[in-house]
Amino acid sequence: MNELDRNKKIIGEEAAKYIKNGMTVGLGSGSTVYWMLKKLGERVEEGLDVKGIPTSKKTERLAKEFHIPLLEFSDIQQIDLAIDGADEVDEHLNLLKGGGGSLVREKIVDAEAKQLIIIADESKLVLHLGTFYLPVEVVPFGWEVTASRIAKLGGSTTLRETNNHVFVSDNGNYILDCDFGQIKEPATLHEKLKLLVGVVETGLFVGMTTNVISTKNGKLIKLA
Ligand code: 5RP
Repeated sequence: MNELDRNKKIIGEEAAKYIKNGMTVGLGSGSTVYWMLKKLGERVEEGLDVKGIPTSKKTERLAKEFHIPLLEFSDIQQIDLAIDGADEVDEHLNLLKGGGGSLVREKIVDAEAKQLIIIADESKLVLHLGTFYLPVEVVPFGWEVTASRIAKLGGSTTLRETNNHVFVSDNGNYILDCDFGQIKEPATLHEKLKLLVGVVETGLFVGMTTNVISTKNGKLIKLA
């Protein structure tokens, strides 16, 4: 295992400790969340009573593999805690997410949680968002028009593809990976993008994070 993966494992396993008996937990997506799910599965086997609500089909599959009981929104009153990954975290704990293409479900679940813990290795901690491209989920119909509207706001766009096929999100939509350069005012950019017809959601998660678990030189650090 390389150093990055070792750090992701340390962070993910630490996050699982925050889950208490009786909680309904939003289960994020990504390679750091994988370790949280694995540890949570072990705790469930030991008798921890929790219910999870997954933020992607991949997380749903993993949670089932680890025997974590799952719920749907129709079954729940509230989400006590969500634990999710991120692609960038700025100094105000605003996030850029969606590298794995799960931003819509992640935002729906994370926004509903009373507490949002972000698990992100040191490489994700930045002064300003925007080195990583900004994922924006769009309706497939007329995506070219939506892309040109985004371009008028100053962002160059690339339609996400995997293995030479257009990437389709869990919601049946496309993702435009946008380059706006440094994003110094994420809330303003998010609002402008959301007003464009065809845009479903952006990967900017502003003012939602309660805590961040990360590492510095291989040691755990916590930000709030
Ligand atoms: C997917 C996301 C993920 O949370 C993010 O990509 C996770 O990163 P990592 O795999 O490094 O934990 O935003 O939409």
